[in-house]
Amino acid sequence: MKSRYGYKETLQSAEKIGWRVEDIIGGDKQLDFKRPFLPESLARVNSIDFLTSDEKLVLNQIRGYGYLYTFGLVEEFILPFILDHARPQLHGDDYRVRALLRFAGEEAKHIHLFKEFVTEFTKGFGTPCDTIGPPQEIATAVLSHHPLGVVLVILHIEWMTQRHYLDSVRDDQALDPQFKSLLRHHWMEEAQHAKLDTLMVDALSDACNPTEIENGINDYAAIGGLLDGGLRQQVEFDMQSFERATGRVLNGTERERFRAIQTQAVSWTYLGSGMTHPKFLETVGNLSPAARTKIEEMAPAFC
Ligand SMILES: [Fe+2]
Ligand SMILES: [Fe+2]
Repeated sequence: MKSRYGYKETLQSAEKIGWRVEDIIGGDKQLDFKRPFLPESLARVNSIDFLTSDEKLVLNQIRGYGYLYTFGLVEEFILPFILDHARPQLHGDDYRVRALLRFAGEEAKHIHLFKEFVTEFTKGFGTPCDTIGPPQEIATAVLSHHPLGVVLVILHIEWMTQRHYLDSVRDDQALDPQFKSLLRHHWMEEAQHAKLDTLMVDALSDACNPTEIENGINDYAAIGGLLDGGLRQQVEFDMQSFERATGRVLNGTERERFRAIQTQAVSWTYLGSGMTHPKFLETVGNLSPAARTKIEEMAPAFC
């Protein structure tokens, strides 16, 4: 089944947006470290009940930092993937070429934006926060998989971004307005990306036989496993960053509880909320109803 999206319409929507990095970060656009960065549904710091409210705020900001760093990290494999996908078709449909190249240009801009954010955060937060990487190494590992598996991961990520903003960020008035502005500007452009991803799934799956489709879906799960391992490592880094920033040393029981709650929080943020997105499931179901059912059965472990 073909998606209802089109290159021309998507390009036209993208052309109405178009913001510059320097207009949304730096100068008088400063992060407010007195306010939370991430909505509680993603940060899940309140259920770590042995933390004080100041400590919860610090952990929320560490998670916010990790959130935008992770977007930058995944965009390091999205960008080359789109360029590789566009390259063989430069002489085809002009709207398609322009929509894909604009998509690539926006992801390059987002990578730049999130690097600027990392600099701003590091300046204001006061203590260093470790993160998984380096991004190029993770990108190489992800891109070694079947292109259909990679594009399904990208589709998952971009619908997930839409869901986070609409369900949790847009109406949360407690969040730092500057951090929220970065999420809003990112969300505006990602709305087109999720549609273009759907069109890329159509194009790639058209060229696959049933065995290749199965291989692609298996590779989607394999990349998910790879990212899951990275996220578990990130939780350990976040715990160290938290102790460094607050000066508090957690005991064994507290560490276990911190780890359990935050592992579930990052699983929902980056895996569960994408796997259960109706638009993602619809596209997977069109490729393979059995794969859709399998993902739906696996999802509760990540929610
Ligand atoms: Fe992006
Ligand atoms: Fe994107």
